[in-house]
Amino acid sequence: MNKYLHYSHQSINRKDISSVIEVLKSDWITQGPAIKEFEDALCSYTGAKYAVAVSNGTAALHVSCLAAGIKAGDEVITSPITFAASANSVLYCGGRPVFVDIQEDTINIDPRKIEKRISKRTRAIIQVHFAGHPCDLDEIRRIAKKHGLMVIEDAAHALGAEYRLSRRGRRGEWIRVGDGRFSDMTILSFHPVKSITTGEGGAILTNNQQLYRKLLMLRNHGIVRERKALMEKDEGPWYSEMQALGFNYRITDFQCALGRSQLKRIGAFLKRRREIAALYNEKLSQLEEIVLPVTRPSVKSAWHIYCIRLKDASKRKRVFERLRDSNIGVQVHYIPVYFHPYYRRLGYEKGMCKKAEDYYRRTMTLPIHPGMTDRDVHYVIKTLKESLA
Ligand SMILES: Cc1ncc(COP(=O)(O)O)c(C=O)c1O
Repeated sequence: MNKYLHYSHQSINRKDISSVIEVLKSDWITQGPAIKEFEDALCSYTGAKYAVAVSNGTAALHVSCLAAGIKAGDEVITSPITFAASANSVLYCGGRPVFVDIQEDTINIDPRKIEKRISKRTRAIIQVHFAGHPCDLDEIRRIAKKHGLMVIEDAAHALGAEYRLSRRGRRGEWIRVGDGRFSDMTILSFHPVKSITTGEGGAILTNNQQLYRKLLMLRNHGIVRERKALMEKDEGPWYSEMQALGFNYRITDFQCALGRSQLKRIGAFLKRRREIAALYNEKLSQLEEIVLPVTRPSVKSAWHIYCIRLKDASKRKRVFERLRDSNIGVQVHYIPVYFHPYYRRLGYEKGMCKKAEDYYRRTMTLPIHPGMTDRDVHYVIKTLKESLA
């Protein structure tokens, strides 16, 4: 039997390990210089002005919502086809997630359906670049501007994804997700299944200095230590102030050393993910029974996951089980967030987002990650074909 093929998996090499060891042997294993070095590397890779590295992607979402000013009674629009954390972050702040249905091709939030769900209480849109395929960034920005809303990109799947500008004057220019020209903040996750890993970890990117300051403060208990404050308060060199109820969402220096080393390898990671996606696309395109993932010509996906859809939803469970029995780590991304019992208890009902629900009944994630060989990919293709028969 083939070795177990995870749907996604980290790739750690000797350089990654030695960069972690180097920091472990240094004076600073947390709150030291490796954190800023990783943040600077994230800025130069994405084009963002500021980066704040935190303990995980969920913490990044939480502090982004707080920095955006989300509070009790506020509504935030998001997609139901995402990991629960995208919506949970709104609940953490006392707000209410409002789920808007998806586009049938990209599985991303459908901008045409956003405006109908905007109310007097709406404060922000959290768009999720599902599977690494960027959302309609400029259209969502346009809607948000018109209604005075903040825009947060949940780019947990999409570090390395690119988006082609379509507006007059800049037509054709490619930008990386996280560059931030269409949003207020972009969040990243460095969980081992993502584009790069720090074990657990996340970051927020922004071009706004005020938001950057707030995010730094919220990461560290809401405490600030500034020279200006010291002088004004006429205290001493020990002086610091807690100005908001923040958290300990700090990441360690050795995690950031790993992150920085991984970021140097992201080009190779993305190349391999794209090769595998192309191989699946080529070899699976003749199969009548399935619908392949769509990539619009205006984007380059980061291919965090490769999700097919079965035309006959009733076959999904059987095919899934057969693949699992063959050591293929298929998954389902995602159960619509509002299907979860916790959300049902909050009053969310099934039937709200028809396209998302139909997608959920048919979808299955095939393995894709840089460590897979062509032989692994062909094994998945062959076993899928047999399982569909
Ligand atoms: C879309 C999305 N947002 C947020 C997160 C949360 O990231 P983390 O696991 O680093 O907390 C995930 C993690 O899987 C995710 O897939």
